Amino acid sequence: MNILLIGSGGREHAMAMKMAESTLCDRLYCSPGNPGTDECAENVPLDLGDMEALGRFLEENAIDLIVSGPEQPLVDGLHDRLLESGALDGRCFFGPEQAGAQLEGSKDFAKEFMVRNQIPTAAYRSFHATEKQQAKEYLQEVAPPFVLKADGLAAGKGVIITETIEEAEQALDELMGGALGDAGKTVVIEAFLKGREFSVFVMTNGEDAVWLPAAKDYKRIGEGDVGPNTGGMGSISPVPFLDETLRSKVDERIVQRTLKGLKKENLPFLGFLFFGLIEVEGEPFVIEYNVRLGDPETQSILPRTEGDLLAAMWDLAHGNAPSALGEKEEHSASVILASKGYPGSYTKGEPISLNGLGSHIRVIHAGTAHDGSGRLVTSGGRVLAVNALGGRLSDCLENVYAAIGKIEFDGMQYRRDIGSGL
Ligand code: AMP
Ligand code: GLY
Repeated sequence: MNILLIGSGGREHAMAMKMAESTLCDRLYCSPGNPGTDECAENVPLDLGDMEALGRFLEENAIDLIVSGPEQPLVDGLHDRLLESGALDGRCFFGPEQAGAQLEGSKDFAKEFMVRNQIPTAAYRSFHATEKQQAKEYLQEVAPPFVLKADGLAAGKGVIITETIEEAEQALDELMGGALGDAGKTVVIEAFLKGREFSVFVMTNGEDAVWLPAAKDYKRIGEGDVGPNTGGMGSISPVPFLDETLRSKVDERIVQRTLKGLKKENLPFLGFLFFGLIEVEGEPFVIEYNVRLGDPETQSILPRTEGDLLAAMWDLAHGNAPSALGEKEEHSASVILASKGYPGSYTKGEPISLNGLGSHIRVIHAGTAHDGSGRLVTSGGRVLAVNALGGRLSDCLENVYAAIGKIEFDGMQYRRDIGSGL
């Protein structure tokens, strides 16, 4: 099988590593990729806006499977455009069409979908910028903390949680005033849920769902979960509090009802579905849907996934009973090494030294590049993820932090408390 994987982050490097292990994998291309994917795949610079060139690439390289790591191409309708241009021509695109991608691309759509399909989520109301006065009146009726969400994709900046009504009104003014462009023209105001967050992943064709290992990510920049939100500073898998009872509730009330809803509403969906969940006194609620895998959850879950990921994807794509994927008993932890200044503006171009790491450590590239003289340097906010497996969570954390001690770049920052607070 020849595969084109789209993306350039840590998630894509982790996906490329897993796909390259499969006996089904002949040639694996990553676009644009990064220095990490370059080691297990062939990086190719493709313009996703140029259907003709993309179609030619698929044809000339006999691509069988196209997978999008990030959500943006899916929300922008890449799958639909390839279909319309005829470039898919029997190839399989693993990732939903634009209609299904709305589960992530529009918070308002996702909330309405959940209500229509009796999927547990926080109570809410949505307001368009033309209804700002009604939105402010609604804020008077609900109790703090106030949760405001920009409807559209906002690169992790779209959720604002405030304690005072003045801050909530200010956030509303900013969002509706265009601070996040069109993404904030509609705002969802929802009830605050207090509980434990976790991430569940399935692969589905809208009919069958194959569970991947679940994970927990650490979103804030600071230890003890303080400071601004980031793309994610670390992750662990499995989730210690996701026991059989909670898992069955998630499967019945959330995963199965989502599949049923997709079918009922004629939304074809072949791809990964990522449920951002919160457990409140034993009951699971959906915080958000994503139509892709998580970053940095993928870096922890794929090393724990037993079985052939590509075979399961292929089976799902062809409507066959999907090959089940197992979960290794071992624990997995990933810690992100970030650039100085992240999640604000950050430095770039710092040389990275990665010497003396054992083979039990996986270094997953996210924001790295080669400079003019071929040295590995930093090029993004989140630079690397360091992952290890271990019999106990404490074992893998010990290995990860020992390895981090051997990695250097100027301004490197990371959380020392990944795996705690459970
Ligand atoms: P999201 O971008 O939807 O994942 O939201 C970002 C973060 O905001 C989540 O990971 C939660 O920590 C928090 N959050 C979102 N919605 C709620 C809610 N209704 N109650 C409490 N926390 C929330
Ligand atoms: N780690 C959260 C996400 O990928 O959205």
